[in-house]
Amino acid sequence: MPKNFETVSHENRSFEPPKVFAKEARIGSEAAYQELYQRSIADPEGFWAEAAQDLHWFKRWDSVLDSTEAPFYKWFDGAQTNICYNCLDRHLENGLGDRVALHWEGEPGDQISLSFSDLHAEVSRFANVLKKLGIGKGDRVAVYLPMIPELVISLLACARIGAVHSVIFGGFSADSIRDRVLDSKTKMVITADGGFRRGKILELKKIVDEGVAVCDCVQNVLVIKRGGEFDIDCPMTKGRDLWYEDLVDEVDATCPAEPMEAEDLLFLLYTSGTTGKPKGIMHTTAGYQVFTYLTSKYVFDLKPDDVYWCTADVGWITGHSYIVYGILQNGVTQVMYEGAPDFPNQGRFWEIIERYKVTTFYTAPTAIRAFMKWGDDWLAEKDLSSLRLLGTVGEPINPEAWMWYHAKVGAERCPIVDTWWQTETGGHMLTPMPGATATKPGCATVPFFGIEPDVLTEDGESVEAGILAIKQPWPGMLRGIYSDPQRFKETYWCKWGGKYYFPGDGARKDEDGYYWILGRVDDVVNVSGHRIGTAELESVFVEHTDVAESAVIGIPHEIKGQGLIAFVTVIDGREFDDKLRQELVAMIDKSIGKFARPERIVFSHDLPKTRSGKIMRRLLRDIAEGRELGNTTTLADPGVVKNLQVQFEK
Ligand code: WT7
Repeated sequence: MPKNFETVSHENRSFEPPKVFAKEARIGSEAAYQELYQRSIADPEGFWAEAAQDLHWFKRWDSVLDSTEAPFYKWFDGAQTNICYNCLDRHLENGLGDRVALHWEGEPGDQISLSFSDLHAEVSRFANVLKKLGIGKGDRVAVYLPMIPELVISLLACARIGAVHSVIFGGFSADSIRDRVLDSKTKMVITADGGFRRGKILELKKIVDEGVAVCDCVQNVLVIKRGGEFDIDCPMTKGRDLWYEDLVDEVDATCPAEPMEAEDLLFLLYTSGTTGKPKGIMHTTAGYQVFTYLTSKYVFDLKPDDVYWCTADVGWITGHSYIVYGILQNGVTQVMYEGAPDFPNQGRFWEIIERYKVTTFYTAPTAIRAFMKWGDDWLAEKDLSSLRLLGTVGEPINPEAWMWYHAKVGAERCPIVDTWWQTETGGHMLTPMPGATATKPGCATVPFFGIEPDVLTEDGESVEAGILAIKQPWPGMLRGIYSDPQRFKETYWCKWGGKYYFPGDGARKDEDGYYWILGRVDDVVNVSGHRIGTAELESVFVEHTDVAESAVIGIPHEIKGQGLIAFVTVIDGREFDDKLRQELVAMIDKSIGKFARPERIVFSHDLPKTRSGKIMRRLLRDIAEGRELGNTTTLADPGVVKNLQVQFEK
């Protein structure tokens, strides 16, 4: 069982939703939650159909859920809709055009505010530029941008005309761009000359150039000028590369939203799994639309006057669902910030909350732990009284960080929603209802409406602590892995004979029926909320001609949640030295990105293996965490671990 089990199994503090909050909340009591939850489970189709009625449909669905080809479920089959329409046009029609959709702040301090009308016009222009360049329904468009308004605008523009976006987080390397572009046969890449991060300029266009050099499928690279105080040289390839600003003046701001079929692909988002090859997670139109709309509305208890801020990057699913689609569909004002939390100083986030009077703040446990380390002084003089709700996402939050968040940021008056979900689930699965659920530090608590979790053994027996399983399909679920339906079935639906979705997390159910997430049960590691497959790093290391074998594991890390430790053996006759170590680090930077660098690369003569040759990662974890070694009787050569312990302590 993952080690978090021990920490959280002693946790028994519980916090009722603050009365003032509950009084005004959409779901204001445990009874109200239970009533709606039971209804959503007894009649999921009725429940989701009702939720869908808040939104705009060009054509109504024939069926809510079609399970005939399970696990290739269809939601709202027969319907036609457009998620961009629901994010923008619908609000204009309702007279909300003047409401601010986006308060954007660049890292150097530049600010832009866009109303829903402004955003509608920008998106329409962008969509017209895409059309002019021959992009249409079903075409794949990769987006590699800093956190600037054009990131949101370009996604909505794709959705408006039915193009499929595939966002690549700005921390990924050229090789990662290449792999994703080739896998999805991307026709266009949208990027920027640069962006700011911790006072430095990220030269994104140059990375794209390197990445797409061998990609014949790419017809155009559309380049946005980040603007501001930098003057970098941005080479443009004739016939392929175009400046967005040169094209936007030639188009108008009218572009009708394309009616999309319910199951038309909306976007791809690549994520790590247990093999060396990332998976292109597929999300489609109607189900994702309804799920992100409803989860946003209830989990963040969104109200017309709210100012919401999610600190995630749009390069991850959190940004897709809870910056772009879920929040905009609810017509709520939000803040978007380009840069680092500690630039120009460690008080930046609190300053932003104060400046825009943020009411709803959604961030990651790793950030919270960093704030704790930076000290309370950064918050002391800031006015955080606008806050009414806090949220966390991305990894288990340790009770200590939860308590700090509750006391120092929330002043003990803001409920905290610890939301468990995944790239694959599209939206929140386990989460408190802020006005209804008593929260426990470190616990993702209860299922969202329509979600039926269980904790099972490998054999499918219901137990207290084991593997998390999800019983019924839900509208936001992934529809597949791009061009690999077999892998989709095998990864998510095979464990319990197709009856449950397998998310890959361990969980415990407590006496109140609350779910505690215990971390991954597969070879996926969560570093600062970034999901990294250990196999991805291993396959990079073994590409080095001097490396024979490698095993990468995750260990607890004070700030990042988890850190990576790499064990590497070299081929006979080769030396391991600092030069090799540096070469291996450079290979990770090049193949994945700097964020995937291991904490340590430990050289070893051999790796602990069973007699059948399987690497015993459990023992590697014991060594790395300085624990007493578990059962070693199955080891082929018991001498190996002693040797490794010596290496590790060096
Ligand atoms: C994995 C999914 C959810 C969007 C960002 C990450 C872990 C996520 C929690 C939470 C404990 C969490 C799980 C999950 N995780 N949220 N509240 N408590 N663990 O999305 O990159 O697809 O990663 O993140 O292990 O499987 P992702």
